[in-house]
Amino acid sequence: MHKPFLTTRKGALFAEDCMSLLKDMQSSFVDCVFADPPFNLGKDYKNGYHDKMSEFSYLCWCEDWIKECCRILKPGGAIFIYATPELAIKFGNILNELVTFRHWIAMSMKGTYSRGKKLYPAHYALLYYTRNQPKTFNRVRVPVPTCRHCGKEVKDYGGHRDKLNPLGLNLTDFWEDTSPNRHQKFKVRPGVNELKLVIPERAILISTNENDIVFDPFGGGGSTFQAAELNNRYWIGTELYDSKHIQRRFEERFPLSLGKKPEFDIRGLFKQDEDHKNAVLRRCTRESLSAGTR
Ligand SMILES: C[S@@+](CC[C@H](N)C(=O)[O-])C[C@H]1O[C@@H](n2cnc3c(N)ncnc32)[C@H](O)[C@@H]1O
Repeated sequence: MHKPFLTTRKGALFAEDCMSLLKDMQSSFVDCVFADPPFNLGKDYKNGYHDKMSEFSYLCWCEDWIKECCRILKPGGAIFIYATPELAIKFGNILNELVTFRHWIAMSMKGTYSRGKKLYPAHYALLYYTRNQPKTFNRVRVPVPTCRHCGKEVKDYGGHRDKLNPLGLNLTDFWEDTSPNRHQKFKVRPGVNELKLVIPERAILISTNENDIVFDPFGGGGSTFQAAELNNRYWIGTELYDSKHIQRRFEERFPLSLGKKPEFDIRGLFKQDEDHKNAVLRRCTRESLSAGTR
């Protein structure tokens, strides 16, 4: 029986291995998966996680969780995976067999350095796939970019500035207004490996509506869960190594929601276990027998 480490009105976090939760989850249950896995680079996550296994074992493990994440997606649901371009190519091979490609979103990465005989890496990839045609696609708009020194707009839009939608520009598949690299100065919490909120938030806004369900297997500092709670989506997550940062995030930002019973049925999340199925069967048989004797 899986017991949540914390719950809110909108979500439930399980402090356990994502695979152990995933294998017990119902198929076709969630509307969106957002996954930002460890990259097997030997990084110190400062939470006990050892980010280094053989490449073969790492890719086999990725294949397992990616397949499970696709299985739990509803038809038309979306899966986003954040990765280095090298890993994204490999993840794409797995995803292409199961779901439909939508976008390779490039997120510009500043202040990097080249390693060996390579170009300067200047972006991370956010893969976006859906289970067949997307059931939800919301256009996200972003503010017209301005110079951070003088505040003036940086482009003139070829003289058609007045034709721009007053709500902002259409989001493209090139995000240069985020800071995907996890430099200390961009982190909400020092020492915690987390994305800027806007990254999972955009993925959620594009692919879900209010009260849809978002799943993140690699909770980290909890940015996906915050984005879901903030935007009125249900969320489910796992974090194997240390969930206290997520707990602190919710204590600070959602104190009234933390500790409340989720508004969705957590039991409905899991495949029915044999005992539960047998109990339901016994009840149904009893009911139909007693109906027959009336
Ligand atoms: C890159 S971080 C995710 C950061 C998160 N997206 C955020 O913005 O806060 C990856 C996380 O996955 C966790 N992790 C590694 N293996 C896991 C597993 N098998 N099940 C669940 N979590 C795992 C690590 O402890 C780490 O916190």
